[in-house]
Amino acid sequence: MTKPLYETVAELDQRYVLPVYRRQPVLFVRGEGAQLYDEQGNAYLDFLAGIAVCGVGHCHPHLVQRICEQARTLMHTSNFFLTEPQARLAQRLCELSGMEKAFFCNSGAEACEIGVKIARKFANVVKKTPDYEILCLEGSFHGRTMGALSATMQAKYQEPFKPLLPGFRALPRNDLDALRNAFSERTAAILLEPIQGEGGIHPIRDEYLQEARRLCDRYNALLIVDEVQAGFGRTGKWFAYQHAGVLPDVVAVAKGLGGGFPIGACLMRGVATEVLQAGEHGTTYGGNPLACSAALAVIEIIEQENLLENAAQVGAYLQARLCELRETGAPIREVRGRGLMVGVELTQPIARAVFQKALEQRLVLNAVGDTVLRLVPPLIITERDVDEAVAVLTKVFQEV
Ligand SMILES: Cc1ncc(COP(=O)(O)O)c(C=O)c1O
Repeated sequence: MTKPLYETVAELDQRYVLPVYRRQPVLFVRGEGAQLYDEQGNAYLDFLAGIAVCGVGHCHPHLVQRICEQARTLMHTSNFFLTEPQARLAQRLCELSGMEKAFFCNSGAEACEIGVKIARKFANVVKKTPDYEILCLEGSFHGRTMGALSATMQAKYQEPFKPLLPGFRALPRNDLDALRNAFSERTAAILLEPIQGEGGIHPIRDEYLQEARRLCDRYNALLIVDEVQAGFGRTGKWFAYQHAGVLPDVVAVAKGLGGGFPIGACLMRGVATEVLQAGEHGTTYGGNPLACSAALAVIEIIEQENLLENAAQVGAYLQARLCELRETGAPIREVRGRGLMVGVELTQPIARAVFQKALEQRLVLNAVGDTVLRLVPPLIITERDVDEAVAVLTKVFQEV
C-alpha cells in the first residue's frame, strides 16, 4: 500500500529540511482566493496570507497569467542589461510611494539591509560622522541578515548571533520625549515599522512618525520606513506612512509586493538616491523580469479590484467584530491595528494554543509571541469571511 502523501512529505521534511521552522501538521497543496486546501481536499479560511504576502489571494488568475506569459518570454537576464518590467515597476512604485528611485532585491530583510547600508554610508561620507547612530524601536523586526538583525530590537533574535553591527540604538515605541532626546547631529537615520508586525502588531502613532520626520529634517538624518509587512494596501493605503501624511527618505517593501512571488524593493528619494554609486550594491536576481511582472500584476489587481478600500472597510468590520467578541467575555485584552493588519492581545498566554485549535477548525492565523494573535488575511476577503473567522474564534475561545 502506498503511504499517504502527508506522511511522505512530513518524513522527507523531517529528514532533509533544516528544522528552523516549527511546522504545523498540515500539508497545503492548493490555494484559491482566501482558501487553502490540504491534500485531502479540506478547505481552510486563510487569515494569514503566507504572513501578509498573498494580498490578492491565492492564485489570482491575472497574477498567474502574467507570471506564465513572462515565464514563456524571458525570466532572467542579470542586471547588466535593461529589462522592461523592471523599469515599468520602478516607475509605478515611485508614483505610488512618492519616492524617486527603486532598488530591487528578493526579500524584506534585503530591502532593510540596503536601507542600513545607505544610512551608514550617508553618515560616513555625507555627514562625516563616523560615530553615528541609527535609531530603532524596541520590539522591531527588520529581518535575519546581519544588518537587518542588528536593527531588530528583540533579544530572542539577536542573542545567538552576537556580536552584532555597532551603531544601533533602541528607543521605546511611541515615546515622543525619548525620541526627541535621542536625536542629535550623530543621528544617521531612524528605521521603524509604521505598525510593528512580528513585535505584536503595535501601531506607531501618526504624531510619532510626524515628529520623527521633523527631527530627521532638523538633524539631517534619514527617515527609513519598513513597509515590508504593512505596505501594499494592507492598512487601506498603499503604504502605512501615508496615513500620517509624512514622506520618508527610504522605504523598504517586500511581502505583498509580489503576491507570493519573491521580490523586495528599497525605494528612496532626495539625498538617499545619491549615496550608493555603481558597483557599491547589487544582487543577481533582484528585479528580474519574472518577479517584476508578478509585482506589476499585483498592482493592477489592487487598483482594478479597489482592494485599498476593501482592506479599510473589511478591516474596520473585522476589528469591530473582534471587539464585540471581547464584550461577550472572550479572553481578549485589546484589538489593535489598521485595515487588515490586526492584532488581538489576549488576557492569558494562550495565543499558540488558540492558533493550533483554530487550525484544527480550518482557520489559518498565527501567534506573535505568547499573547498576541495576528490576522493578516488577503485584501480580497469579504465581511462573510470575517463572520466565518469570528465564529471559529468564538468556538476556539470556549475550548482553550
Ligand atoms: C516589518 C518586516 N521587515 C522585514 C521583514 C523580513 O522580511 P523577509 O522575511 O522577507 O526577509 C519582515 C518579515 O516578517 C517584516 O515583517
